Amino acid sequence: MNFQTSPSPYDLANLNVLVVDDQEDVRGGLKRLISSLGCQVETSSSAEDALQALKAKPVDIVFTDLKMGGMSGEELLKEINQRWTDIVVVLITGHGTIELAVACLQNGASHFLTKPFDNKEILAFVERVGYGVLAKRQVKNQSKRKKGQSFIAVGNKMRRVLELVEQVAQRKVPVLIEGASGTGKELVAREIHNRSPVSEKPFLAINCIALPDSLLESELFGYKKGAFTGAHKDSTGLFEQVQGGTIFLDEVSSMSPLFQGKLLRVLQEKTVRPLGSNAEKHVDFRVIAASNQGLKKLVEKGDFREDLYYRLQVMNIFLPALNERQECIPALTSYFLKQASSEFFYEEYQLPKISPAAMDALSNHTWPGNIRQLENTIQRALIINKGETILPSHLGLSDETSVSESLLEQELTSYEESKKQAIEAFQSEYVQTILQRTNGNISHAAEMCGLTRAALQRIMRKLEQEQIRTN
Ligand SMILES: Nc1ncnc2c1ncn2[C@@H]1O[C@H](COP(=O)(O)OP(=O)(O)OP(=O)(O)O)[C@@H](O)[C@H]1O
Ligand SMILES: [Mg+2]
Repeated sequence: MNFQTSPSPYDLANLNVLVVDDQEDVRGGLKRLISSLGCQVETSSSAEDALQALKAKPVDIVFTDLKMGGMSGEELLKEINQRWTDIVVVLITGHGTIELAVACLQNGASHFLTKPFDNKEILAFVERVGYGVLAKRQVKNQSKRKKGQSFIAVGNKMRRVLELVEQVAQRKVPVLIEGASGTGKELVAREIHNRSPVSEKPFLAINCIALPDSLLESELFGYKKGAFTGAHKDSTGLFEQVQGGTIFLDEVSSMSPLFQGKLLRVLQEKTVRPLGSNAEKHVDFRVIAASNQGLKKLVEKGDFREDLYYRLQVMNIFLPALNERQECIPALTSYFLKQASSEFFYEEYQLPKISPAAMDALSNHTWPGNIRQLENTIQRALIINKGETILPSHLGLSDETSVSESLLEQELTSYEESKKQAIEAFQSEYVQTILQRTNGNISHAAEMCGLTRAALQRIMRKLEQEQIRTN
């Protein structure tokens, strides 16, 4: 099964929400409801407390009652607008204050909710606005991350990849990077950008699988104030922000047919029309796309537009799985050891050696999670290794001892653990079947099994993390 392996920056668990209401039942109810999406939710019983909470910790969305003893929700909104312009503010109103709430929309509030609440409406709102906030944060973090990263390439296959990287870096052509999860597609995309003549311009990545269609469109194309609920100010899309740099479209195979058509048009015309606007804007960028499924096969099955495929893969780079480039393993291992020790230890640290048996185990492992899994294995070994040498037992890869240990564990498995395993087995089989039926189309699969796309993706990620943990 082809799961996405990285812990997604678009996971709603990364979203911080603050609920402000002087009524305890409202605070508690909203906290329970919004937490069910996986978000981090804090509460405050007054606007004054809320301001303290906002100073202490970054918050993405504030839900606030309008009428409270002391400072009102309207005043809190004004304060937030002045100090934290990125925070999305949602007002909670009773029947008596609807007019005031509408007036507050003119003053920077994004939305208002009337009591009694419509739970579905609240969840849909938090999901939509939440993914938008996370997408923006992700783009802001782009420049901070991955500085000083090296690209390790040993052996003929990877030398060929490096040559291609060098060639395509010098030309502003679209590039399609294919390879299984964790093989380094994003790193290669950054490498191409960094070696290109526009390396000083932005490299903006967007993960197409993590965002619903509507959000992909608003993030990439931008929107005008009022184009949809929550669009409280104009927003420039990534195609415009990138200004001659590189747009990286990750997991491009998961785009819906409708969105594929819209993307094709942008690539052909080099213009975008922000949502809610009538004016076309000229844009300038190079596109690099990545997919961990063979796009050609999807084209043959009719799941990906042929014309878009040819537009994207003017140049094609395929990254082999790690077990097909074992010659890279020693170099990658020592690179990850150095990286992890400078990241994890405060003091100067004597790098441990790797025993020949441990290196053998690393070289012969099958690595279903590819380089990312090797990286995690080395990080873990560095932390648990107590002596000077990393031994096979520090790697946590399955071998004779760990198999018999796991058998022993099985005999002693508690009721809760057995239940967890049974649920995981059921989820895994169910997800595989439904994805097979929909040819891997997550939106259709979610629709068929009555889940939201985000909920189905959460299950898939959990299963995959479990799969990697047990490998
Ligand atoms: N050749 C390499 N040299 C050094 N580090 C690498 C190399 N290839 C991958 N990595 C590291 O392995 C991890 C996974 O790489 P990356 O995120 O680029 O993979 P991916 O193919 O995009 O995975 P996914 O399909 O799951 O998104 C990253 O931490 C990356 O820095
Ligand atoms: Mg990736």
